[in-house]
Amino acid sequence: MPPCNFKQNETIMKKHILFLLISIVLCACKKQEEKITTRLITEKAMVVSAREEASKIGAVIMKQGGNAFDAMLATDLALAVAYPYAGNLGGGGFMVYRLENGEIGALDYREKAPLAATKNMYLDSLGNIIPNLSTRGAMAVGIPGTVAGTFEAHKRFGKLPVETIMKPVIALAKKGIIVTKKQEIRLAEKQEDFKLANKSDFLFTKDWKENDVIQFPKLAETLTRIMKNGPDEFYKGQTAKILAKHIQDNGGIITEEDLANYKPKWRTPITFSYDDLNIISMSPPSSGGICLAQIMKMIEPYDLDKLGHNSTKAIQIITEAERRAYADRSFYLGDPDFVNVPQQQLISSAYLQGRMQDFSFEKATKSTDVSHGTVEVIESNETTHYSIVDPFGNAVSVTTTLNSGYGSKLYCSELGFFLNNEMDDFSSKPGIPNVYGLIGAEANSILPEKRMLSSMTPTIVEKNGKLHMVVGSPGGSTIITSVMQTILNVHEYKMNMQDAVNVPRFHHQWLPDVIMMEPYSFPDQTIKNLQEKGYTINEEDAPVIGKVDAILVLDNGKLEGGADRRGDDAASGF
Ligand code: DON
Repeated sequence: MPPCNFKQNETIMKKHILFLLISIVLCACKKQEEKITTRLITEKAMVVSAREEASKIGAVIMKQGGNAFDAMLATDLALAVAYPYAGNLGGGGFMVYRLENGEIGALDYREKAPLAATKNMYLDSLGNIIPNLSTRGAMAVGIPGTVAGTFEAHKRFGKLPVETIMKPVIALAKKGIIVTKKQEIRLAEKQEDFKLANKSDFLFTKDWKENDVIQFPKLAETLTRIMKNGPDEFYKGQTAKILAKHIQDNGGIITEEDLANYKPKWRTPITFSYDDLNIISMSPPSSGGICLAQIMKMIEPYDLDKLGHNSTKAIQIITEAERRAYADRSFYLGDPDFVNVPQQQLISSAYLQGRMQDFSFEKATKSTDVSHGTVEVIESNETTHYSIVDPFGNAVSVTTTLNSGYGSKLYCSELGFFLNNEMDDFSSKPGIPNVYGLIGAEANSILPEKRMLSSMTPTIVEKNGKLHMVVGSPGGSTIITSVMQTILNVHEYKMNMQDAVNVPRFHHQWLPDVIMMEPYSFPDQTIKNLQEKGYTINEEDAPVIGKVDAILVLDNGKLEGGADRRGDDAASGF
C-alpha cells in the first residue's frame, strides 16, 4: 500500500465525514426505502443496468470476447425481457459512445411520428387536448426505433455474431424472470390502465406477486425471428405485418410503410468543458446534452465544493441555472431535421454568463420573470439507462424508453411486447404541459416523420483526455438534472460512484416553479432557508428523482459501478 500523505489523509477524512453526514441524513429520514447496494469494483469490464439479469448477460458477452457494442445489443434486448416497464422492443433510445482511441459519436434511434400524424391530432374540435389520447392506447404510439438502433450499433462496431449475443437473451425469455417487490407494486398499479388500453386480457393482466416467475414464450419467438432475419424482420417482415395490424386494430395510425421507412441516425454529440472535464452528451432531438451544457456552464463560475453538497446556496445556484435552461428548452429545442436549433449559441459561455446576471442569493427568481433567452436563429424559422465499459476501453452510454411505465400500455400478445407512448413527448398544444409538466412550442410540434423532443441524457465524461465516467438516468424531465448532480457529486464533492448515485436529489424545470425534492432526504433547516428566500418546495410528487446507472474509471484504472438504490439496478463485470 502506498504511504498516506497528509493530503490523502485529509481527503479520506473528508470522505468519512461526508459519508457520516449522508448516513445521518438518511437515518434521520422520516421514511426511506432501504436498499443496500454493494459497491462493485472490477478490473476490466462492467455493465450497470436496471436489472441484474441484463447486466450479467452483457458482462458474459464481454467475457466471451465481445466489446461494448456487442454488450449493448445483449443488455438492451435482455432489458426488453427482464424489465418490460421500460426496456423494450416497442420503444426507442439514444446511445453516446467513446472508443478506446478517443473517437466519439452518438446514435439516435428515437421514435418518429407516423406519416398520418398531424399537428392537432390530440385536440378536439374546440382545440382542447383530448384526455389520454397521447398517453394511452394505440394513438399514443410512435414508430419504434430500438431494434433498428441496437442492430445499427452492432453492425458498425460489434465483433461477435448476432446469434452468440441473442442466444442467452432468448434463453432468458424462455426461462423467465423472477418478479421483484418493486415489479409487483408497479404491475398492480397499472392494472386499470392495462384494461383500458387493451381489448382483452394478456400476460400482465394478472395478479403477479414477488418471486413469481414470468415466462415470455411469444417474445422468445419474436426475438428468434429477429435473430434469424435481422432488423428487417421487425420493420419489413412478419413481425412488421403483425405489429401494424395490431396497432390499427386498436385504433392507431402506424402502417407497414411507417415501419419500413424507419431509420436510426448517427449524430454528432454535444461536447463542452466543465473545469478540467470534457463532457460528451446527446444532441437533439434530445434536449439532454444542450440543457446539461447550459446548466453546468452557468454554475461553473461558482465554488460549489466550498458551499457544500446540497447546501442552501448550492441548491440555489443549481436551481436558478436549471430554471433558465428549461425555459430555453421549451422554446428552442426540437428535431434538428425539422427545425433549426441554435445549438452553438445556446451553449456558448458568453450567452450563458448573461443568463445568470440577474441571479441573487437573496431572493428566488420567479419563473414568470424568466423567458427563453435571445439568441440569433440563423434562417427562418419510464425509461431506463445502462452504462458499459469493455476490456478494450470502449464505453457506451444508452438511455432507452417506452416513455411512461409500460409505455402506452398497449400490449401485442402475438409478439410479446408493449408499445411506447412517446407521442406525448411532442407538444400537443403550445403552452400545455405533457406528462412530465414540460411545456413546448412550435419547435416541438407534431409533423409526420418528426422525432419528438426528449430529455434523455446518455453521457460520457473525459478527464485529462481519458475516459472518466459513463452516466445516465431515466426520469423524464428530471433525467438531465439527475445526470448533472451525479457528475457534480464525483467532481465537486469527491464522492465515490456508488455514493454519488445514492445521495438525495432535487430538481427544478422552470415550470412549474417548484423545487422538487426527494422526500425525507433534505434537512428541515435547508428547506426552511429556501422557503424564506421565496422558493416553493415540493416533496410529494417525486418519491424518487432519476435512477442513475454509472461507471467511474478509478485512478488505478479499475472500474467502479454505481447502481441506483432507488430501483432493482445492478452492476456486473470482471
Ligand atoms: O424522452 C424522454 O424524455 C421521455 N420519454 C423519457 C421518459 C422517462 O424517462 C420515464 N422514466 N421514468
